Amino acid sequence: MNYRKLRNIEVSSIGYGCMGFSHGYGEIPSEEEAIRLMRLAYDKGCTFFDTAEVYGDGHNERLVGKAIEPFREHIILASKLFIDSEAVGDSFESLEAHIRAHLDASLEKLRTDYLDIYYQHRVNDDIPVEDVARVMGKLIVEGKIRGWGQSQPIAEQIRRAHEITPLTAVQSEYSMMERQFEQDVIPTCKELNIGFVPFSPLASGFLSGKYSNEDQYQGDDVRRVITRFNKENVNKNQPLIDLIQKYADEQQATPAQISLAWMLYKEPFIVPIPGMRKENRVDENLGAADVKLTDEAYLALEHELSKIQIYGNRTDKDIAKLQDME
Ligand SMILES: NC(=O)c1ccc[n+]([C@@H]2O[C@H](COP(=O)([O-])OP(=O)(O)OC[C@H]3O[C@@H](n4cnc5c(N)ncnc54)[C@H](OP(=O)(O)O)[C@@H]3O)[C@@H](O)[C@H]2O)c1
Repeated sequence: MNYRKLRNIEVSSIGYGCMGFSHGYGEIPSEEEAIRLMRLAYDKGCTFFDTAEVYGDGHNERLVGKAIEPFREHIILASKLFIDSEAVGDSFESLEAHIRAHLDASLEKLRTDYLDIYYQHRVNDDIPVEDVARVMGKLIVEGKIRGWGQSQPIAEQIRRAHEITPLTAVQSEYSMMERQFEQDVIPTCKELNIGFVPFSPLASGFLSGKYSNEDQYQGDDVRRVITRFNKENVNKNQPLIDLIQKYADEQQATPAQISLAWMLYKEPFIVPIPGMRKENRVDENLGAADVKLTDEAYLALEHELSKIQIYGNRTDKDIAKLQDME
């Protein structure tokens, strides 16, 4: 494993996205197995664990808290809160009380008295980002959080918030299938020395090349509704998988590793957090930190990628459809 910095906070180059142990990918493993995998990742050098209050309605924070308790001080722990603008209303005092209550509940579940990074899960224009930044600034001074972040902001929201309390990280969807934030969010992070943490860096596993249109998904699995997994798009996106496989063969790596190595190559402040619930995937994904693309290989891959059209995406609107499904 090797290490990178999200602003002033050092993390392993690949983090652990823990959501799938509670939420979003159908049937979950046993608590014992989930804890075993998170601890195994730590033993292999992973020091960055990502959760959120909403994953499994607190289940995920409880699980992660239990898993990391023996080595809490040696890892970077990130969680997230949703700010309910209706509940908060217009007053700064009420916003502050809201954020403090959510943080305290998260800390208790996570068995710790501080978070390393606390994200606003979706930046909500009804609540001024400056006010959220002010509250986060107070929490940093008090030592309840070491740094803070925004998930899925636009560049302008990053700038406004950062001016009040510098952001540690921005967490947004980024992969070979979702590159919209290359336009201005990632350059803004670079300019302001903010880390960028790609979620769904394997496009919900698609980029591993291990899924076909024969696969069936159950329960709360987002792959039932996100359009990149519909049968037609799985077929249409095959040229992308073929391309990644070609580079995987050349580099003696796997497609998942090439997909992660590609983003690691781009900028030293990019730290992906794949989700993984099987031991071989922990080995494979963490192993991507050691797959180094040469300048030549990267440029050739980038050039070929630019010619490939991507079909389908992953939107919050599509994911919301799961609520009405059996
Ligand atoms: N801020 C936000 O709004 C937001 C939104 C979504 C996610 N997140 C965070 O980002 C993390 C990662 O997102 P994600 O889980 O969607 O990422 P992802 O890694 O793109 O997708 C995870 C899926 O890919 C599969 N997978 C991972 N590595 C694989 C491999 N090597 N071979 C085959 N399949 C593989 C996993 O399978 P198994 O799990 O079955 O092994 C799982 O089904 C989450 O855990 C969460 O912490 C944040």
